[in-house]
Amino acid sequence: MQLVHTSTDLRARLQGERTIAFVPTMGNLHEGHIALVKQARSEGSCVVVSIFVNPLQFGPHEDFDKYPRTLEADCAKLHGYADVVFAPAVGEMYPETQTLFVEPPPMAAELCGAFRPGHFRGMATVVLKLFNLVQPHVALFGKKDYQQLAIIRQMVRQFNLPIRIVGGETVRAEDGLALSSRNQYLTPQERTKSAFLYQTLADVRSALSAGSKELAGLERNAMEALASQGWQVEYVAIRAQDGLAIPQAGERRLVILAAARLGATRLIDNLEVGL
Ligand code: PAF
Repeated sequence: MQLVHTSTDLRARLQGERTIAFVPTMGNLHEGHIALVKQARSEGSCVVVSIFVNPLQFGPHEDFDKYPRTLEADCAKLHGYADVVFAPAVGEMYPETQTLFVEPPPMAAELCGAFRPGHFRGMATVVLKLFNLVQPHVALFGKKDYQQLAIIRQMVRQFNLPIRIVGGETVRAEDGLALSSRNQYLTPQERTKSAFLYQTLADVRSALSAGSKELAGLERNAMEALASQGWQVEYVAIRAQDGLAIPQAGERRLVILAAARLGATRLIDNLEVGL
């Protein structure tokens, strides 16, 4: 496994690689990331992981400064799974002020986008830059960031990028909590309560599977259930899996998405439902 920090070294190392499978990350890797990297091995002959905490996708009051940076431990975890780790400094990714951006679709202003203005613009912009640097054949993203994955799929289609996008299943702790680098912000008491987000989504999924068509009522009940347990709820929404549109009657491929805060920590999760 080779660790490179500059785009020049990255391009030199990847010269002549036949098929590149790419996993972009912000580091602080957990089992969810490692599962994606293992999946990447079956998608390409050279597996590249990027580790870059992208300032462009954090709001002014978000956790950019305190986001955990653990490059050495991350490289140890990737050993034997990745061929190349690309860990650029901010000045390497943004050698000049970024004045051009990927303008994401209107859907990016909904759900998480309504609470994190500019987040998806910054995310899509850095992902396009990383795609141009790595030039992968395949790129893998976790389904936990479902809206991010939906936006990237649209970007790749609409900009004709020659990259196949693969979504990896969410990896969960035994009690159902979706693994996330932000889970470590939870106090022990909050960690105990945190699985309720998954349980709430699972209840909505059961109701949908049992034939409930009252989507707005299900969303409202779920938000009330979370609030009654001390969560500050941003949203619970039932959407169509493709493009995250508000479901038409008879839509069979649904996803339930939620974001809520427990104390100072913002958690997101989602569950797909096939009817
Ligand atoms: O999901 C993430 O870790 C980030 O949003 C990504 C895709 C690496 C872009 O910075």
